[in-house]
Parts: sequence; C-alpha cells; structure tokens
Amino acid sequence: MGRVIEVTDVILRDAHQSLLATRMAMEDMVGACEDLDEAGYWSLECWGGATYDACIRYLNEDPWERLRTFRKLLPKTRLQMLLRGQNMLGYRHYEDGVVQRFVEKSAENGMDVFRIFDALNDIRNMTTAIKAVKTTGKHAQGSICYTLSPEHTVEDFVRLAEELMQQGVDSICIKDMAALLKPQPAYDLVKGIKRACGEQTLVHVHVHATTGVTLVSLMKAIEAGADIVDTSLSALSLGSGHNPTESLVEMLEGTGYTTKLNMERVIRASEHFAKVRPKYKEFLTTFTGVETAIFQSQIPGGMLSNMESQLKQQGAGDKMKEVLEEVPLVRKDSGYPPLVTPTSQIVGTQAVFNVLMGRYKVMTGEFADLMLGYYGETAGVKNLEVLNLAEAHAKKPPIKQRPANLLKPEWDQLRSEAIAMPGCNGSDEDVLTYAMFPKIGPTFFATRGEGPKSVAKDPAAAPPPAPAAAAGGTAPVAAIPPLTKPITYRVTHRGAIHMVTVGPDDKSGA
Ligand code: CO
Repeated sequence: MGRVIEVTDVILRDAHQSLLATRMAMEDMVGACEDLDEAGYWSLECWGGATYDACIRYLNEDPWERLRTFRKLLPKTRLQMLLRGQNMLGYRHYEDGVVQRFVEKSAENGMDVFRIFDALNDIRNMTTAIKAVKTTGKHAQGSICYTLSPEHTVEDFVRLAEELMQQGVDSICIKDMAALLKPQPAYDLVKGIKRACGEQTLVHVHVHATTGVTLVSLMKAIEAGADIVDTSLSALSLGSGHNPTESLVEMLEGTGYTTKLNMERVIRASEHFAKVRPKYKEFLTTFTGVETAIFQSQIPGGMLSNMESQLKQQGAGDKMKEVLEEVPLVRKDSGYPPLVTPTSQIVGTQAVFNVLMGRYKVMTGEFADLMLGYYGETAGVKNLEVLNLAEAHAKKPPIKQRPANLLKPEWDQLRSEAIAMPGCNGSDEDVLTYAMFPKIGPTFFATRGEGPKSVAKDPAAAPPPAPAAAAGGTAPVAAIPPLTKPITYRVTHRGAIHMVTVGPDDKSGA
C-alpha cells in the first residue's frame, strides 16, 4: 500500500472539447499554466484533432504556436496529445512519410506523450505512428478504445494490449470516451493487462463522467494496479466531461493510495477556469447531467445530439426513436465498430439515412468505405449482404490489407500545394496544417496575420443572436467528402426533398 497514483489533467484539451465545444482560446489558459506546472501532474493533455481544428477554424490561432507556448509555460510537466494513428489529426488516412513528419514536428515543438488510437482498434493503423514516436525518443502510448458489444470481451481487450506492447509502446491507455467502463470491468481489465503484459506495464485510464459510474471505475482500476488516471479540474468537469481532479484526491483519502498533487495549486488553477467558464456560456453543452441510457443504446451523447439535429433539419424530429433502434443494427452490420470519431458519425448518419429512405437504399461514401475495409478491420464479422451493396455502391472491391498500403508518397505534392498559398510561411508545420485541413487551412493562412480572435464573451453582456441556419448544398449523396465540416445535402426520395446535414462537429470524439 501507499502507492502513488499519477494524474493527467485534461483541462487544456478534452475538458473544454467535451463541455465548451473546444472553443477555449489560448489567452484563457495562459493564466493557469504556472499553477498547473507546479501542481505535480504526470502530464497535461493539451493538444489533439479538435483543438487543432478549432484553433484554425474559429480562433485564428496557429496550433503550433499554441503548442510552443504551452512548452514554454509548462517547463516541468510532460505535454500530452491525442493522435488518431494514421489519420494524424485529420479525417483521412495519410501516407507513412506524412505521419512520420507530423510526429517529428510535434516532438520538436515540445510534445512528450503521444496517446495513439484508432477508431476501429486496428493496430495496423497505429504502427507507423508508434514507430515514429519511438524514433524521436518520446513516450508512445497505445490506446484501447473501450466499447461494449458481443465482440468486445475483457479478454479481447487484454489481447489488444499485448499486441500493442509487442509494437513497443511505453504504456497502455484504456480509453473510454463514452463512460461505458463500469467499475468491475475496469478492475478486470487492468488486472488482465497487468497479468498478461507484466506488473511493470504502465496502465493509464481515461474515462468520461457521462454515465455517473466512472469515478468508482477509477477507484477499482487503481485497486487493480492502474498507474495513471485522467481527471479534469472541477471547474470544467462532469456531464460529458471528466471526473473532477479534486474529487479523485479526496476519494483516495484513507485508502493508502495517494497522489503527488499540490492541492493549493490545483484549486487555484480550478478557480481560474471557474472564472473563464461563463465567458463561453453560449458554447456550453446542454448535457451537463447524467445519462445511463447509453448502457442500453450504446450511443454516446455527442452522437445523439448530432443525429437529433440531422433529423430536425429535415422536419423528421419524430423519427428519433426509429433511428435509435437502427443504430445498433447498422453497428452490427458493420462489424461492431467502437462509436468514436469518425465511426460514430459514419454509423449515425447511415442510421438516419436508413430510417428516412429505407434500409441501405442510400449509402454514404464513408459507410461504404467502412464496410469495404478502407478504414481498417472491425472486431466483428460484417453482414455480407450489406457488404455487397457497399461494393456495388462504391464501385471498388473490399480490401484486406492495411489501408495506408494503398497510398503513395504524398509529402512533396502537399508541400508544393501548401507553399503556393497566400500566407503560408513555408514551414513543415504549415504543410501539415494544409495536409490535415485542406479546406480551412488556406483560409487560416490568409488571416493568420490578424492574430488570435477569441470567441469568448463578457458574461455580463447581452446574449448573442441565434446562429444562422446552415446553407444548403446540392452535392449527390454518393460523393460525400471526408467529414471536415458540416455539409448539407439535398436528397430526393419518393418525390420528397430531404435536407441532410453531415458533419464532424459532434462531441462523441474522444
Ligand atoms: Co476523452
């Protein structure tokens, strides 16, 4: 007993991604950095796909500059990021050379811990990133996306952890984005990993608070030997966010487990964010309570609100119940993918289409790709009938190999395209911004000189006008591009026109 439990605070990334639509500007984080750095955290998670996206889409902030600023302001603490394997921070697979370049540049700009995951838990989509991190000498963390299905037992997840260890990762993360990890499975999973991979294996547990059960799950994980847990300062915690850091510390009193946290610093940092939070009131998620229905529906809260708005936008809000019943079927047909970005959007959108147009009468390009293996392998067997439909729809064969094997070197091409753009500074970092965000990257380059534009509001000021409705487009459904921004399609079915909006802006992300 007397074991020290290490803590990662997610306040600088996942907390505001989960609760404030990722809108927090750097200027609202700077003031807490000294306290955060002195608090004694194992790491501070501060970078990922959504923060990168929000920086260039909404805040006119250079995400690389944000990283360098964190490095400067947090000299004593490991900086941690969430890396979507072969997708990096974008919405498609990138060729290996680009992934290597991204990891190199991130390490060079100050990143220490790379939490690497793949939405399908397909290790082939993670190996290039893992190797690249090992080459830089930084910490490669292999993640298991936790989900519930007949194809996902504790033994299956333990096997996955063993395979990740064989790839040379420095630690294993149990990543539970939808708060599905109940206390006993948490215990069994951590025990199983320690037994299979060795007691010395570092196990890091990431849970959200959505279902109300996961602070207990953290306790059980700790009892089973978990080394590091993720929490968030109480000022931005709970709901679809995370368990409060302060509560974790209090919970451990008298258990023999302790943290190294300096509570004076922790509380001061939390007070800082309590003052910041009201400035982002208009972005605060409506979901700040507890939701246990997900244990039956398996549908993360963010995905739920996404599908709700898709339905409402075409006057089919009354179809929600049918869609909720359709999601598990679509998930089963596609081999039980975990519902995390991007699979949550792909499965959710297909379920909406199935209900509105008839089952698989209309198929999104992404869903066909998922069926055909272009995102990687799923844990379960796919429905052959739907697979054949996908093949006919996409007019390409199913694949068995690692998806990135199909890609040719693309760095030189990306580079020459990027540097031709007004405002591109010619750095590899800018090329990566363009590579991952080909639509909004160029707009950002052009406006970068105007400096950061915070979307925070004085909480005392009058409420802003309601946002304008999304503009309609007329692209055919068959040509749905990667989900880089919400797009509205006009779909004609049985003489009726439906507007269907598909977008990446949900919070089931990570
Ligand atoms: Co998360």
